[in-house]
Amino acid sequence: MAMSTNNDSGALEQTALDLAALGIVSAKRTDERRARINVEPDPVTEHGPARVIALCNQKGGVGKTTTTINLGAALAECGRRVLLVDFDPQGALSVGLGVNPYDVELTLYNLMMQSGVKFEDVRVKSNVAGLELLPSNIDLSAAEVQLVTEVAREQSLARVLKPVMNDYDYILIDCQPSLGLLTINALTAAHGVIVPLECEFFSLRGLAMLIDTVDKVRDRLNPDLELDGILATMYDARTVHCRQVLSRVVEAFGDKVYETVISRTVKFPETTVAGEPITTWAPGSGGAKAYRALAREVLAP
Ligand SMILES: Nc1ncnc2c1ncn2[C@@H]1O[C@H](COP(=O)(O)OP(=O)(O)OP(=O)(O)O)[C@@H](O)[C@H]1O
Ligand SMILES: [Mg+2]
Repeated sequence: MAMSTNNDSGALEQTALDLAALGIVSAKRTDERRARINVEPDPVTEHGPARVIALCNQKGGVGKTTTTINLGAALAECGRRVLLVDFDPQGALSVGLGVNPYDVELTLYNLMMQSGVKFEDVRVKSNVAGLELLPSNIDLSAAEVQLVTEVAREQSLARVLKPVMNDYDYILIDCQPSLGLLTINALTAAHGVIVPLECEFFSLRGLAMLIDTVDKVRDRLNPDLELDGILATMYDARTVHCRQVLSRVVEAFGDKVYETVISRTVKFPETTVAGEPITTWAPGSGGAKAYRALAREVLAP
């Protein structure tokens, strides 16, 4: 574990932000939603069946991969068994966990597209106890093309996850920045969707289309699919603009917005280089605390 470099934004860095601390409240938010952040998670002795959550936003660079890794690590810290699914041919999730997806023999592509490939041969254990990974690389982009002519093409990911549902408490799927067939597969396999949303004006534009896609998948393919929540990411307390955007999101989506707010900090890019979650790389940092707070909200009933 590397030492925290503590080279940015001073005191703010050491504390986790939330909507109440920012003074952002709306008529549509309930006290119950606000209180979830303080609920101490129960320890578990048995595992599964998993809740499958897709981390989804067709806008690029909003914190999907960062949230998948760090929420996953924070849930694992709470004793949950967690599988992270790298569902982006860029393989950033794999790299962020210290796995070079070109060094592994088999990836999620092989598991989805070839018969006879076993889950255990693709699954990789991370350095964090209870946190495992299905890696991907550029091969996965071929799946998107090949799936078009497959029977039940939207269900390919759900099919490979089904046999391991009882082995995990959470399965987090890191989607690519598009609403194409891979993302539809993720939404078809999921129980819930978390939308990481960068706090800047243009973020709001694509949100309606994303919500529309979630509604369509619920109507046509997966009646149980829920919007679990919208997570504000890359929040910069120094700009008025960030605050305005977040206030508008809370006004529009009320209870659907997580109380936890992820601040902008250079620690996150640094963890990618380190190849480990912020919760182990800089455990006392504000970023680590924020993702632990998010894990509490996700775990709260
Ligand atoms: N809270 C944050 N503060 C500062 N930088 C961040 C934060 N969250 C993520 N980043 C950085 O921003 C970049 C994009 O983040 P990330 O890869 O998580 O987004 P993404 O939505 O998965 O992107 P893509 O759409 O390309 O898959 C990365 O370099 C990451 O380290
Ligand atoms: Mg990503």
